[in-house]
Amino acid sequence: MDKPLRLGLAGLGTVGSALVRVLDEKRTELTARCGRPIELAAVSARDRSRNRDCDISAARWFDDPVEMAASDEIDVFAELIGGADGPAAASVRAALEAGKHVVTANKALLAEHGVELAAMAEDRGVLLNFEAAVAGGIPIIKTMRETLTGNDVHRVFGILNGTCNYILTRMEHEGISFADCLADAQHLGYAEADPSFDIDGHDTAHKLAILASIAFGTQIAADEIYIEGIASITNADIEAARELGYRIKLLGVAQATDSGVEQRVHPTMVPVDAPVAQISGVTNAVAIDADIVGQLVLSGPGAGGEATASAVTGDIADIAKSRPGHQHGPALGTPAKQLAPYRRARMRAHEGGYFIRLSVNDRAGVFASVATRMAEQDISLESIVQRRAGKPGEEQDDDTIKPIILITHETTELAVRKALENISGDGHLVAEPQMIRIEKG
Ligand code: HSE
Repeated sequence: MDKPLRLGLAGLGTVGSALVRVLDEKRTELTARCGRPIELAAVSARDRSRNRDCDISAARWFDDPVEMAASDEIDVFAELIGGADGPAAASVRAALEAGKHVVTANKALLAEHGVELAAMAEDRGVLLNFEAAVAGGIPIIKTMRETLTGNDVHRVFGILNGTCNYILTRMEHEGISFADCLADAQHLGYAEADPSFDIDGHDTAHKLAILASIAFGTQIAADEIYIEGIASITNADIEAARELGYRIKLLGVAQATDSGVEQRVHPTMVPVDAPVAQISGVTNAVAIDADIVGQLVLSGPGAGGEATASAVTGDIADIAKSRPGHQHGPALGTPAKQLAPYRRARMRAHEGGYFIRLSVNDRAGVFASVATRMAEQDISLESIVQRRAGKPGEEQDDDTIKPIILITHETTELAVRKALENISGDGHLVAEPQMIRIEKG
């Protein structure tokens, strides 16, 4: 049997302590499967005295994760600290400088510095593994980076944030308010420390930027993503979507187009029979459309200590299985120095169907004028309906507010925005229009 793989672990929060337990409980199986033991040689965390539900007594304690990362006492450095910069970035750079393999669950770090770190790893012939950084326990990185090497990907999209999916699911199933759902998600430990990161779409964007780079062989471009969060979604939208045969999901979508790569994060209407529409609660799902294999959909837990530790363990085990002299594949699927510059497709050129909800005073001619404004922009409508407010038989005066709900056929974002601008100018609207993009499943 080969020498043990000596692991240095920085960060002993929910994921770090779950990882220590998994390595302990699965010691025999991991040793047999990797051909050598994985030994927790060193640990580093913010507070040494904190009581943790895992045994770190045999590991050497380091107060400074950067010192541990470069130490001769470890072969592989696992970064579970978090954050795009600060000690996480400094320790990962120190480990790669020192020629150590690195495993990280840090999506923000990868989204901001992934190309630089991948180049460092490739220059030194070590592995940079980050399966847990995107969709927790789902093996999406390995699938795209390795299994799909022979495919060209056209589109990768999915539910990449458990907190948002949990909120939208409960709003749909139980009619519970957005705020109550968010409070429960925080209580259950799904949400980020600052939950606006989840609900405003930034967490999804970080994950999407990493997936887009692997999918299209382009540099990671986390700052070039069109982002809308879920805070504007109301129970009325969810109800209207249901009646029309759709569900609302926060999707991250990366798609190759003639003018470049579209990266967008926004609430999306998906047909109820689409695979991603079936994903409820905190579960994540990623769909990949590729030329040879067709569509793949992977779903599973996208957050939580155990699920994330499962992905980190797999990454460490891959390193334990590799042998000196073995040539490692590039971290982002394409060698970092050959990644093409990112070319952003303009959001206004986005083509798709749209759901539009307009709150209008119910006066003669409003319906017709809305339809005319759409026709002026060459927008073909799949349906246009106006719902009565209140109960059947109830008296309604002329000024009752009634929503007009439109579903368009495929059109451009620019055409929809112009039509909405003109409709607003006509003075019939009593609230901001709601516009939700439709995505084919
Ligand atoms: N806050 C994230 C989520 C955790 O809700 O999915 C995993 O990144």
